[in-house]
Amino acid sequence: MDDRPILFFDSGVGGLSIVAPARALLPDARFVYAADSAGFPYGTRSEEEIAARVPALLGRLCERYAPRLIVIACNTASTIALGSVRAALDVAVVGTVPAIKPAAALSRTRTIGVLGTDATVRQAYVDDLAARFAADCTVLRHGSAALVELAEAKLHREAVDTAAYAAALGGLLGQPGGDRIDVIVNACTHFPLVEPELAAAAGRPIRFVDGAAGIARRIVALTEGQEWSTTPGEGIAVFTRLGNRERALAPALVARGFVRLEVL
Ligand code: SIN
Repeated sequence: MDDRPILFFDSGVGGLSIVAPARALLPDARFVYAADSAGFPYGTRSEEEIAARVPALLGRLCERYAPRLIVIACNTASTIALGSVRAALDVAVVGTVPAIKPAAALSRTRTIGVLGTDATVRQAYVDDLAARFAADCTVLRHGSAALVELAEAKLHREAVDTAAYAAALGGLLGQPGGDRIDVIVNACTHFPLVEPELAAAAGRPIRFVDGAAGIARRIVALTEGQEWSTTPGEGIAVFTRLGNRERALAPALVARGFVRLEVL
């Protein structure tokens, strides 16, 4: 029997969009979900801060939870810190990268949008993905801190003005050539949580793609042949700051199998 959990890490609630398909494929796995609520949001932090913060926190989380596998369920943290986390920790680490390859495969107009945080969309890594997998496409990008906050607000059940979705999306679709975008890459794990709202705000048919299903398959491949506990146990959600705002997430977390809240 092997009780070691799979540890999902994000700045906030976005990584929950990565948990769902993984849980469906691995119902016997123990899951720990770690949110750096004290460091949220990552998208407006400097690269230096994220590069220092993420490996340090994951080191502490490994000491406490001894995971068999880490999933950095955050594009911003992955594009900046994946390499250094892998170098620092003696555990397999899966990152989240913008799903530009499947977006290019789907696009008929050969114009795709990449919607992430400012920190993610300016990464050279995104240039590389576009050059490798979407060389014949126009790839437009937009970073939106507002959409991250809207996704958080949705899971906190806070009231939001729906016009805010159109405003955030307008930063992408309103660019020259943006009217040709037919596929948008959700390059922030927060954004699939508000995909219905984004689809409605777009006002025309647009496909949204993200990497969650691919990550779930990768987790299955990396854990193939491993034992699982016969009593999977309660999912644990751990925060770097556990105040009233984090506690307000309890219904959303319980609905996703995380019944214990802890503070790191
Ligand atoms: C954020 O904390 O700004 C969101 C980070 C991300 O999922 O890319």
